[in-house]
Amino acid sequence: MQKMQENAPRVCKNALIKALGAHINGVTVRVFDEIDSTNTEAKRMAADGFRGDALLIAQTQTAGRGRMGRSFYSPAQTGVYFSILHTLNTPLCDAVAITSAASVAVMRAIRTLTGIQTEIKWVNDLYYNEKKICGILTEAVSAGESTHVIVGIGINLDTADFPDELTAIAGSLNANIDASALIAEIYRGITLYLQEPNDREWLADYRAHSMVLGHRVAWTEAGITRIGIAEAIDEDGALLIQNEENSIVRLHTGEISLRPLEDKI
Ligand code: BTN
Repeated sequence: MQKMQENAPRVCKNALIKALGAHINGVTVRVFDEIDSTNTEAKRMAADGFRGDALLIAQTQTAGRGRMGRSFYSPAQTGVYFSILHTLNTPLCDAVAITSAASVAVMRAIRTLTGIQTEIKWVNDLYYNEKKICGILTEAVSAGESTHVIVGIGINLDTADFPDELTAIAGSLNANIDASALIAEIYRGITLYLQEPNDREWLADYRAHSMVLGHRVAWTEAGITRIGIAEAIDEDGALLIQNEENSIVRLHTGEISLRPLEDKI
């Protein structure tokens, strides 16, 4: 088993460019030793007039951001943290499913490179051994006449020491994986989606590897916790939940938690 050189950066730009192959054409690739957040940097680039496609990678982030205003723990050497910036040529509504499609791209890339099958917790968290190993933050920004999407991905490869508040939920892949090859494989998958945003070829995998379908889930609506059974995922990636009044609730975005059957609110 290949051993990582102590303190060596996890992502090597040359290896990444090689792994990207033809997918590199026209793409701006930047690798930062340290940055506040690759999503924030993508926003700065868009505001400064960047148009096109960029792949921004950080060895570590000092202010990594997660969904719902949370922070994302991004230590050096034990994870990958990167953002894809893409200027849309189509209306933003064509990209609504990107957040779900991106989780499938990550799941497939991990499976291809390691054989590990992760599970998707709606909307787009990836779990392995019942711990969250990947989070995705998708943002849309308008700058001048242009609209951009930013897909930020953080994967814990072999992070062992998490801050106390994360130890119960966060885990790592703990596989011998080439970080540059992983990023390239994910980039390929997401690019395929961005080229054909109406193609729902990712949906079957999104449903098949969902860890919430058929389970009792809780979500919050106007400050009130609701409980229901996650019944289906529709064509747009929205979650259909049968609530306690036996009607179907459609969640487009937000957050759910899994609840054991015996659990009371
Ligand atoms: C979440 O789990 O809530 C989403 C986490 C997204 C983290 C990634 S790491 C790369 C990119 N830069 C950020 O600041 N966030 C995303």
